[in-house]
Amino acid sequence: MKKILFVTSEAHPLIKTGGLADVCGSLPKALAELSQDIKLIIPNYQALKTSENVRFICAIRVDNRNINILETRMPDSHVIVWLVDYPVYYNYPGNPYVDEHGEPWPINAERFALFCRVAVEAAMDRVHQDWKPDIVHCNDWQTGLVPAFLSLEHNRPRTLFTIHNMAYQGLFPKSTAASLNLPGKLWNPAGLEFHEMLSFIKGGLIYADYITTVSPTYALEIQTPEFGYGLEGLLDHRKEFLGGIINGIDLDQWNPETDPYITQHYTAATLNKKQLNKFELQKRFALPAYARIPLFGLIGRLVEQKGIDLILECLPELVAMDMQFILLGGGEKGFEKTLNSLAQQYPDKIAINIGYDEALAHLIEAGADIFLMPSRFEPCGLNQMYSQRYGTIPIVRKTGGLADTVVDTLPETLANQTASGIVFNEASSSSLLEAIKRAMILYSFPDIWKKMQMNAMKKDFSWQRSAEQYLALYENL
Ligand code: ADP
Ligand code: GLC
Repeated sequence: MKKILFVTSEAHPLIKTGGLADVCGSLPKALAELSQDIKLIIPNYQALKTSENVRFICAIRVDNRNINILETRMPDSHVIVWLVDYPVYYNYPGNPYVDEHGEPWPINAERFALFCRVAVEAAMDRVHQDWKPDIVHCNDWQTGLVPAFLSLEHNRPRTLFTIHNMAYQGLFPKSTAASLNLPGKLWNPAGLEFHEMLSFIKGGLIYADYITTVSPTYALEIQTPEFGYGLEGLLDHRKEFLGGIINGIDLDQWNPETDPYITQHYTAATLNKKQLNKFELQKRFALPAYARIPLFGLIGRLVEQKGIDLILECLPELVAMDMQFILLGGGEKGFEKTLNSLAQQYPDKIAINIGYDEALAHLIEAGADIFLMPSRFEPCGLNQMYSQRYGTIPIVRKTGGLADTVVDTLPETLANQTASGIVFNEASSSSLLEAIKRAMILYSFPDIWKKMQMNAMKKDFSWQRSAEQYLALYENL
């Protein structure tokens, strides 16, 4: 049995902005099910929600500040959670990273540097719990300073750094680096310095004993200039210590047979019942309740990564076809505005919900026929897996985890019963449009469509296999 300290800035259902939370909520549970002794550490944000008891376990002094460590557990599991309580930094309303206008909180560097320092105290058994982890597993830039600080400790645990998204690096001006009192040894171009800026992610990439990313394809892509954002050289240099492990999904939370958020439960054997969820969606979004019109869904952050611009370019041609499109998401104001005005222009075809709504996300997965995910890059992506589990056929671009989890529909993949979606190559609106047209043709053959749905629904996206891969890695470390 390994002792693992899992360090993250979000974890569902405590606090979530995206897939990072889904993974950091469900992977620790899967590791606990494999009998590992795992504890999660996370900042005690104002918006953090827990239904379990919270108790004070200790007060420590870090970087001249008094910090409380509180203890709770993940709902419905044995995973212990340590909350880093420092109200001056974490008692902010709403989103952990940005204010209500989408601007980063001005002291993010200070907030996450302190979080990293406290995680190091926990990792070195200096929080008086008589528990010293073998492995410290860090996730994304917010935790990047942990491996860096730990590299200066004697008798330290081994460190693993998982990249969920290279596009977010935690870059701050040099002056911030100075004000953070970083150990001098870490401040150089072979350390935390990146073009005279402070780079949190480099802390993970340089000092962690091993690096993973959330799909095998993305692990290769980030070693190229297109996806490495200037860090590809470093990653290439560390490629012996870099691997990809595909994310799993929480099969209890995303299950069309039991999902409390959907109107009608169904399975692969009762696929015709899926239709009732479609009617419910059409009703809620005031779209005409036609059974045989292909309904496209999209849920996600409205940012360039997700290929929203490609969809916007296609929409004028799409509305000329017999289709409906429902989108749930929030992000860049420009995208939000354009989408809203298109919905006003085509109320029978396009419906937009700007915002964040967990329950509606489940209903869209259940009620849509086709899920759009034309990402420019996608480290793993979870919605294409949720879609397949719900018999909703994903249209994806062949990149990152999308390439690793969706099998394109071709004569041979139909014959060997693996076809589970539509895959296109180029990040262009014409390629996307072609994929959409291909989906519409396949949709007009109910027998073929049903086969695709069955193939998709029987796929195994459980955490089991991936958690075992993490475990094997911990053991190697
Ligand atoms: P990313 O982490 O890059 O945003 P993923 O596909 O890995 O992309 O995960 C996104 C997660 O966030 C999914 O669980 C998705 O359902 C959820 N999500 C994104 N936007 C919204 C929204 N507006 N409302 C509800 N859930 C959302
Ligand atoms: C990131 C990526 C997404 C991935 C998620 C969880 O947010 O953008 O592709 O699924 O992390 O690993």
